[in-house]
Amino acid sequence: MKITTIILAAGKGTRMRSELPKILHQIADRPLLQHVYDMSRQLNNNSIKIVYGHGADLVRETLKDFDAGWIEQKQQLGTGHAVQQVSGQIADTDTVLILYGDVPLLKLDTVKKLIANVDDGTLALLTVNLDNPAGYGRIVRDSAGQVTRIVEEKDAAEDEKLIREGNTGILAVHGGKLKKWLNRLTNNNAQGEYYLTDVIEMAVADGISIVTSQPESVDEVLGVNNRIQLSHLERVYQQEQACQLMEQGVTLIDPARFDLRGSIENLGIDIICDVNVIIEGKNSIGSNVKIGANTHIKNSIIGDNVEILANCVIENAVIGRGSRVGPYARLRPETVLAEDVHIGNFVEIKKSTVAAFSKINHLSYIGDSTVGSKVNVGAGTITCNYDGVNKFETIIEDGAFIGSDTQLVAPVTIGKNATIGAGSTITRDSPENQLTLSRVKQISIAGWQRPVKQEK
Ligand code: UD1
Ligand code: CA
Repeated sequence: MKITTIILAAGKGTRMRSELPKILHQIADRPLLQHVYDMSRQLNNNSIKIVYGHGADLVRETLKDFDAGWIEQKQQLGTGHAVQQVSGQIADTDTVLILYGDVPLLKLDTVKKLIANVDDGTLALLTVNLDNPAGYGRIVRDSAGQVTRIVEEKDAAEDEKLIREGNTGILAVHGGKLKKWLNRLTNNNAQGEYYLTDVIEMAVADGISIVTSQPESVDEVLGVNNRIQLSHLERVYQQEQACQLMEQGVTLIDPARFDLRGSIENLGIDIICDVNVIIEGKNSIGSNVKIGANTHIKNSIIGDNVEILANCVIENAVIGRGSRVGPYARLRPETVLAEDVHIGNFVEIKKSTVAAFSKINHLSYIGDSTVGSKVNVGAGTITCNYDGVNKFETIIEDGAFIGSDTQLVAPVTIGKNATIGAGSTITRDSPENQLTLSRVKQISIAGWQRPVKQEK
């Protein structure tokens, strides 16, 4: 069976009050439309068509990697009109699935169950029972319980408005039939729009039975019309991910204060995340890892038994097994820490590798550097890697000891087991095993007096 999925995404989203087209607003760092696209990509033998309109250029540019057909709907004359734009690309034997680009949390299982209800004599419709169905089309059933039509709220009679079963807008049916009904749509209704929902009545008249199914949770079919709804669905999505992680062996001290905006591809067990941890992009986290409060991790690989203390920012970094980072450390892109490395407070590392058992514990900047193993970098050490135009490399070999408040002016190499005296400005290579220091000799001036304030 071949599926054609049509994602309706042309609408303006006025109530978002935004320059950005609604479907480009994000949940967990992914545009709304991308959530729908990613889910439908998981259907086999599926070709995806996206009806777009509002914010056309930006939508196409932002989502240019989609493997989908893009059909522009220049004027938004209704959901039926939107689907009509794709008519020419639907084969009679296709199962056509209609989805909305602003309904991001629909589950694959729900869609599969819906599609399973499609055959030559049926139309499959996803409905939902709502406490407050305001704004939704209502599902009208006859005395035998069979669906006869959908009435839009604005066209509904008072008794029809009492119906709690709402139309999700999501349906599936064979292409040949749909195309025939689409041809007959009119805009003779309260909103002057071509309603896709009118095909239900036409189907019934043709002897087709409407088979309904429901999502497991209402949240799956909620659309985003304003930023309050956007934030609600963000929370729903985060809560779901948090539950999955906990089921996989992660302790979240407070699942309501944890955000995953991306994925953790390799996930160990007995990971403990304190509150306000944000994990972004593609990551890998080993077992027995502790992540302190308010830490932001992006596109990073974290080995087993790593401890990250509170308030760290870690991006495109690798942290080796058993290392300890923070509190208040910043690991910038291309930082690679081997095992058992200690990075302490107010330390920034950029594009540098640090070999096993080395320590950079306080107030330092290490950039464009290669640091050997068992190196001790004292407080306030700075690699001066930039002359305003070019970046230069610093090499610190195994076992070196860098005294506090040292500037290493790159390019420079500190030899194996070298010691650098505190307060030095090192501009030339420092030989191994020796003490190197550059310091003005200390003097004391006898009989010197502090200036005294003159009384007026
Ligand atoms: C639609 C349904 C209603 C259902 C509700 C669920 C119709 C006539 N009504 O109403 O029964 O309860 O969804 O949320 O179908 N769109 C286009 N082009 C258009 C118009 C809409 O692409 O010309 C897209 C929108 O971007 C949106 C989706 O279709 O993603 C639904 O449109 P919307 O205007 O929100 O439909 P409702 O009036 O809410
Ligand atoms: Ca809507």
